[in-house]
Amino acid sequence: MRAFILGGTGFMGQRVVRALVGAGHSVTGLARGSEKAARLRELGAEPVIGDAETPASYADALRASEVVINLASPPFITQRVDEEMVASIGARLVQHARNLVNVLDEVGPRPVVVTGGTSIYGDHPGGEWIDETASYDFRGYGRLGEQVVRYWDEVRAAGRLPVIMIQPGTVYGAGSWFLERVLPLLRDGRYTVVDGGDNIVPYVHVDDVAEVFRLAAERAPGVAAIAAVDDEPVTARAFADYASALLGQPPVGSVAQADALRWTSPVQMESRVLNCRMSNARARQLLDWQPRYRTYREGLPAVLEEVGLGQPA
Ligand SMILES: NC(=O)c1ccc[n+]([C@@H]2O[C@H](COP(=O)([O-])OP(=O)(O)OC[C@H]3O[C@@H](n4cnc5c(N)ncnc54)[C@H](OP(=O)(O)O)[C@@H]3O)[C@@H](O)[C@H]2O)c1
Repeated sequence: MRAFILGGTGFMGQRVVRALVGAGHSVTGLARGSEKAARLRELGAEPVIGDAETPASYADALRASEVVINLASPPFITQRVDEEMVASIGARLVQHARNLVNVLDEVGPRPVVVTGGTSIYGDHPGGEWIDETASYDFRGYGRLGEQVVRYWDEVRAAGRLPVIMIQPGTVYGAGSWFLERVLPLLRDGRYTVVDGGDNIVPYVHVDDVAEVFRLAAERAPGVAAIAAVDDEPVTARAFADYASALLGQPPVGSVAQADALRWTSPVQMESRVLNCRMSNARARQLLDWQPRYRTYREGLPAVLEEVGLGQPA
């Protein structure tokens, strides 16, 4: 299979490239400059210099592909996300998607695998299991994706393209928010959950998310959405306490929302207290996906090992 990927230099995207290349596929990836191009080459992909803002830069690469994966997104996860940023990133994501669809209108349709996130399905404080049939209710970081999720649904409903949206849960791994924001605080014993951390979070290891993207690209199942979450959504506290214990630290502290809002935005706060006991039954059944890290108890030690903080066996 010949795959073209946008966002293949990001946290999830690099793992997706690795998964595709590892399965023997030929991968071309969009790179914003020579440094990123070199990274894609290291991962075994062929880079094309360009930008999601300028579709002419990648039209030829798209034409040569059989499947497209879009993980391109302006950076936000390690920044303060205010209302202005929600609007501007939302608009940017839609523009990237429109650009892609316009080029595909010219070069011909093919399956497109895109990303959403489980926070588009709202808050479920009762703790009930939900799946991809849940209604939309965009919360926290999910609000950044509202416009683009609705756009992809329109494209799919109009029969323009077979679009499959992967809905990752809270993706942890050796990068992004976990490495940059959480791990340093955990190591120092300064990490805190919010309001006791009793909310249920659908965690998933980044390598397992990458496998969902790979399988969806290979099989192009005729569904609109597939959640990528591990087997056991757990409380934010259970996850953080486990990581803390692995690092030789005591259980984490807790902070009240009102206090945490001094250093984080209301949008981010909403994400931190969201409840979502999301099922992975569809990914397991339709894609035959078998998560390597079925729970955080297997996944977190692997991440610490990867960043050189693992315990000797
Ligand atoms: N991480 C999570 O927990 C999580 C969970 C659910 C959903 N998601 C969603 O998944 C997506 C990817 O997340 P991530 O954590 O992998 O993000 P990331 O590490 O920030 O990666 C973003 C990627 O997009 C690329 N990019 C940004 N602007 C671009 C542009 N104008 N043209 C082309 N490429 C551009 C970046 O390229 P450069 O390398 O050149 O910067 C990078 O490859 C986001 O939409 C995020 O909301 C993330």
